Amino acid sequence: MKVNHHALELEQNYLFSEVAKRIRAFQAANPSRELLKLSIGDVTRPLSRVVTDEMKAAAEDMSHAETFHGYGAEQGELFLREAIAGYYAQRGTQIAPDDIFISDGAKCDLGNLCDLFDADNTVLLPNPVYPVYFDTSIMSGRRVIFAAGTKENGFLPMPDHSVHADIIYLCSPNNPTGAVYSREQLAEWISYAKANGALILFDAAYEAYIRDPALPHSIFEIAGAADCAIEINSLSKTAGFTGVRCGWTVVPKTLRFDGASLHDMWFRRMATKYNGTSYIIQRAAAKVFSPEGLAAAHADIDYYMENAQIIKSALTAAGIHSVGGENAPYVWFEAPAHAESWDCFDTLLNQYGIAGTPGVGFGTAGQGWMRFSSFCTRETANQAAAYLAKL
Ligand code: MLT
Repeated sequence: MKVNHHALELEQNYLFSEVAKRIRAFQAANPSRELLKLSIGDVTRPLSRVVTDEMKAAAEDMSHAETFHGYGAEQGELFLREAIAGYYAQRGTQIAPDDIFISDGAKCDLGNLCDLFDADNTVLLPNPVYPVYFDTSIMSGRRVIFAAGTKENGFLPMPDHSVHADIIYLCSPNNPTGAVYSREQLAEWISYAKANGALILFDAAYEAYIRDPALPHSIFEIAGAADCAIEINSLSKTAGFTGVRCGWTVVPKTLRFDGASLHDMWFRRMATKYNGTSYIIQRAAAKVFSPEGLAAAHADIDYYMENAQIIKSALTAAGIHSVGGENAPYVWFEAPAHAESWDCFDTLLNQYGIAGTPGVGFGTAGQGWMRFSSFCTRETANQAAAYLAKL
């Protein structure tokens, strides 16, 4: 038996596993000290009552022969796909329910989509960016090249037309920097993708955090995207589903590469390897898109964005430069005193009990930067802000 040697090319630990390991060590060594967790972007607000009531009603249905559900529709239940299409339509974007595939989250889809692509493809990644794109590309044996995000370009790298790529990952709002591409910038990425015969994988997991009405929430708001882009999204951050698990991927039927329909390939892949998100969860997910569900989701998003402002203001008061936190739940800041990311992580943890995420964990261009998540409680944000002001 031979193993997949590409899987051995990865760092020993996934970024958030390494962060969790260091936090556990801190807690073991300092059992009485308070930990202020601004590291992994995991939600702290409970599910809204409207969503949990729907879960209960769906669970009740499962206990009656007349309303019981076994295996679901291969692409996900139509009622949920229609609710998602309606959500896009509210912003004037027409997505056919038939082009939407329900899953258990964006991370899984991002990894699983790799099944559709030959190993002999060049992958272009913004740097820094969510580490799953890099790790899954390396595991699948693909060449990876980077477009550097810098302080100068506002962490919004643009395509270099002299460089060829086959698969492009974009994350907007960006995890970890919180930067958001404008419509014009996305149009340029689309024209680069078309010139290269490349596919864009657009991760929109944080779109619900966009405040600026001029910024696009979906790549499908931009002309031409249906011929070159797949969009991945989830309810993890929009409605607190990190522990519930429900996401979706839009694969337009118009997408054709190498003589094949990516929609048909993804349908075949999902039908073969996935048995669907649970009926109860799909019912709860559909409820998120109802007027009461969206109102509850927006109230929690407002809460997290107020946390982001508290954290960002404290950094500014301490003279620390930061970006993000305005249209995204992440605040991205320069490590004080030109420290390297992991050194800054260790100092913040050991001296102040504040856990962040080291920027270098999102790519080499993140060296010297740190990320704070605003998915914490208000108490944690206020306490962290009080410590940060003293930095
Ligand atoms: C993060 O902290 O970047 C995210 O929570 C990771 C994820 O969504 O998988």
